[in-house]
Amino acid sequence: MEPDFWHKRWSQQQTAFHQPDGHPMLNKWWPTLDLGTDARVLVPLCGKTPDLRTLAERGHRVTGIELSPIAAQDFFVEQHLSADSDELDDFERYRADCGAGTIEILVGDFFAASGQTLGPFDAFYDRAALIALPETMRSRYVEHLFTLLNDDAPGLLITLDYDQSQMNGPPFAVDEEEVNTLFDAYREVKILETGARLGGKNMLAERGVKSADEYVYRLTASA
Ligand SMILES: C[S@@+](CC[C@H](N)C(=O)[O-])C[C@H]1O[C@@H](n2cnc3c(N)ncnc32)[C@H](O)[C@@H]1O
Repeated sequence: MEPDFWHKRWSQQQTAFHQPDGHPMLNKWWPTLDLGTDARVLVPLCGKTPDLRTLAERGHRVTGIELSPIAAQDFFVEQHLSADSDELDDFERYRADCGAGTIEILVGDFFAASGQTLGPFDAFYDRAALIALPETMRSRYVEHLFTLLNDDAPGLLITLDYDQSQMNGPPFAVDEEEVNTLFDAYREVKILETGARLGGKNMLAERGVKSADEYVYRLTASA
């Protein structure tokens, strides 16, 4: 998708993907990544998810990357956090302490993020980032993600699968086979949980999707 697509979604408040209470599976599965409390965690295409807060309250130093300044500003207002801002590379950066950890949101294009300046991160959390991108962009996304991570950084990935002929994305359907193919060169892929889901205010049902499955994956370095 072009940046304008997302800027328009945010300015017109078409953000049905947003989960005001965060993702129910994050607290269940995050501990299985077995990270140190002060780990640096990357949240690509973060929107204004309260999951950033959940991760920071675990003590992590959390970095979200998001195109929309509206999303970033809304996040700190809605979470009642007072943020400082400055510039870093091509990004406008908002930063606040939160619980035992910190949250920064870098406003700009994920693909412009440089591992030299920003990395390396100890882990990543992708909910609705990979599936926000069309098929032609997904391998580039994964390649770029791994330029920002430590060699052994694990991740939690949450995707959706449904019959793509029933609706145009985003969110796009990404099946298990594609996840395995995309991450094969980098990590071992394990499904932690899968179940029927028509999440985000039932926006998939409203758009004609009859059933959808959500998948939670853990990605870890090979033993
Ligand atoms: C489907 S939303 C998911 C947001 C968040 N992960 C969540 O769970 O609520 C995708 C987000 O990615 C952002 N986005 C899309 N392309 C991007 C890019 N190239 N760089 C940074 N953010 C991007 C959009 O503005 C949007 O907020």
